[in-house]
Amino acid sequence: MCGIVGIIGTESVTQRILAALKRLEYRGYDSAGISTINKQKIARCRAAGKLSNLEQELNNGTLSGTIGIGHTRWATHGVPNVENAHPHVAGKVAVVHNGIIENYQQLKEEFADKGVLMQTETDTEVVAHLASQYLEAGMQPTEMMQALLSKIRGAFALLIMTADHPDVLLAARKSSPLAIAHGDGEMFLGSDALALAHLSRKISYLEDGDWAIITKDEAKIYNLENEVIDRPILITEASDKTPDKGKYRHYMEKEIHEQPEVIGYTLASYRNPTTGKITLPDFAFSPLKLPKLTIVAAGTSFYAGMVAKYWFEKLARIPTEVDIASEFRYRNPVLIENGASLFISQSGESLDTLMAQRYARDNGQNIISLVNVPESTIARESDTVLRTLAGPEISVASTKAFTTQLITLLTMAVHWGQLRGTLSDEMASSIMDNLTEMPSLLAAIFSDDLDWGSVSKELASSRDVIYLGRGINFPIALEGALKLKEVSYIHAEGYAAGEMKHGPIALLEKGVPVVMVAPHDEWFEKTSSNLKEALARGARVVLLSDDKGIEKLHEAATWVFRMPEVHQMLTPILYSLPVQLLAYHTARQKGTEIDQPRNLAKSV
Ligand code: F6R
Repeated sequence: MCGIVGIIGTESVTQRILAALKRLEYRGYDSAGISTINKQKIARCRAAGKLSNLEQELNNGTLSGTIGIGHTRWATHGVPNVENAHPHVAGKVAVVHNGIIENYQQLKEEFADKGVLMQTETDTEVVAHLASQYLEAGMQPTEMMQALLSKIRGAFALLIMTADHPDVLLAARKSSPLAIAHGDGEMFLGSDALALAHLSRKISYLEDGDWAIITKDEAKIYNLENEVIDRPILITEASDKTPDKGKYRHYMEKEIHEQPEVIGYTLASYRNPTTGKITLPDFAFSPLKLPKLTIVAAGTSFYAGMVAKYWFEKLARIPTEVDIASEFRYRNPVLIENGASLFISQSGESLDTLMAQRYARDNGQNIISLVNVPESTIARESDTVLRTLAGPEISVASTKAFTTQLITLLTMAVHWGQLRGTLSDEMASSIMDNLTEMPSLLAAIFSDDLDWGSVSKELASSRDVIYLGRGINFPIALEGALKLKEVSYIHAEGYAAGEMKHGPIALLEKGVPVVMVAPHDEWFEKTSSNLKEALARGARVVLLSDDKGIEKLHEAATWVFRMPEVHQMLTPILYSLPVQLLAYHTARQKGTEIDQPRNLAKSV
């Protein structure tokens, strides 16, 4: 959504806030700003666009102080311009906010009735006005926070400072994440531990409903009932290193190339490479008796869930339902008692997924999460946490998180299949043995040095691109289309190949590129018929297949990319790579901002 940072100490904070914001830029890059208190006055610097613009603005002036707050924005209410950039200021108060104040319209109107007009289109500005109003009425910071929090509704991580109390930073959390890092005579606040790990590794997390008064020496935390409460101080696992692209041009390219390695790590964390024994964390239920599995996630993580549905149903015979996180709790889903719900999230912070998880917990589900950030809110609120060991994913478009999710989900389905007696040991070994080869199979695709140049040039000049797949690779068609849309801004749609004739085939006209995800598997014959239907309408086909598939279809395709042959259950993992590379190379042809595409943020 947005990234927020606060520092209170004895040394200048501006450059350190900027450095922490850089570690949070993945949360939004529509605008950025920093406020400090200098000589009992609020000072502020803001810029539209990326942090580099703010950095330039900061170089043009002086923003000093030993207390300050900063923000990097993903716009929700109000266009991404300077006026709407945080921090928002009213009187002697400055505020940064991540989330949405749901009753801001009503509050705005109440202020308007008193003749106070807002200067911005944001939902946040009312918070600054409320805090200022309460303080001017004589409230102390603690009373002001209680009054403020009883007045606003919605989701928020808030940092507030006031020129009249330059020795305290005020913080509050509801649904949006907020962490405190404890320094030596300094305290730091941020949206996640990653933002703060280079400043201090001693982190405590505010729980939902918590708020805090922070001085340079301590954090006094209150719960929803306004009682002082202890939140444990943990040593964070988050890396304190500044991420870099190494020899690659973009983080996306780097992360695509990291897949053989991180897939290897993730697999080894669940399967002993010598004995082949799979060990999963403990579950609060027996997979043997599981009546139903509900999987909930957003975006690319949702597509991982769609692939997993095939695996859990085919290999473990568990009825599996997959839901889009933003839809789940609004459709009154039937959640079977003692059922399990699995939430997949790279960041572990996607708000829709978190809300769906809370809904499932309130409805008696066993909560499992599959995350890449083990200290995230979704992980902290789970009964059982499965981890992907993808390492920090910086590129907004997810790549290595997706394939490591798939590795984990397949391992889990195989293990549960064995436990439930629905999968023979022989079949389980055949899948798992082939899975251990996945890192070298993926690495071989890189060293094959396939020519992405001509096809990506063609895609880059196309208006529409269609991705087709069947069965277990239908979700890979969806993922391929999503990747292309995100990083190249080209309209792309993924379809179950057999569904084309029910409408989407009307989109086909001469020359439209159709990417066929078509390994030679049990769905291949059907997929080839769909390919012929597309060809008959003038489509130009990009064929992703293996030796057997290519032998049968190569004449029909304009571009052919040869993949190694693998067990058909593994093809979604393998075929993720060419669809990622297609999107990446097409975006390079177009010259888009690949790592930070327009309108997006890594965690929303
Ligand atoms: C696509 C992408 C998004 C995320 C989605 C969920 O490349 O990155 O679609 O997959 O926003 O994010 P997480 O997995 O962090 O919950």
